[in-house]
Amino acid sequence: MDSQDVQADLKHVLYSKQEIQQRVAELAAAIDEDYRDREVLIVGVLKGAVMVMADLARALHSHVSMDWMAVSSYGSGTQSSGVVRILKDLETDLMGKNVLIVEDIIDSGLTLSWLKANLESRGPASVEICTLLRKPEAAKVEIDVKYVGFDIPNEFVVGYGLDFAEKYRNLDFVGTLAPHVYE
Ligand code: IMP
Ligand code: MG
Repeated sequence: MDSQDVQADLKHVLYSKQEIQQRVAELAAAIDEDYRDREVLIVGVLKGAVMVMADLARALHSHVSMDWMAVSSYGSGTQSSGVVRILKDLETDLMGKNVLIVEDIIDSGLTLSWLKANLESRGPASVEICTLLRKPEAAKVEIDVKYVGFDIPNEFVVGYGLDFAEKYRNLDFVGTLAPHVYE
């Protein structure tokens, strides 16, 4: 879906399809360069990272393995609880692997800092993080993120994988919702 399709629900478009593609290509180029002598396993965090995984993987010029994890961090509502549960684990043994976690967004950072520590405990050679979006003002924990698409204001965003109540994941852009949608 594009911005025309959801015009009535939209406050504004934050990043267009073209801007996202451009930035994802830049991230892919940096990743190609950094991992040119090492094999990398990219780990997508379901469900939000599906779009960025698909586009990032295709923008790379090197071979990668791909695996997926699903974790739940939100008890209810839109506040991160810091309580993380694994809903789907990796199929790959991480021993000696160079792991790159791919995320849609880092909000409080609680989910990712838990996930990074969890993957690091499995004996990988390295664990790095790539996220399309990050909200610096929302950070509750210090977390070292190697690849960041865009730093954004502390506002709830949807699209390009990100949902509100499981809707809007299939927008081809990232935007904010009009207040009436939340009511
Ligand atoms: P964190 O643990 O607070 O960093 O949040 C992690 C997860 O919360 C993300 O992976 C998203 O699934 C979800 N999330 C955080 N902020 C937003 C947002 O603005 N829109 C949609 N989902 C969000
Ligand atoms: Mg996510």
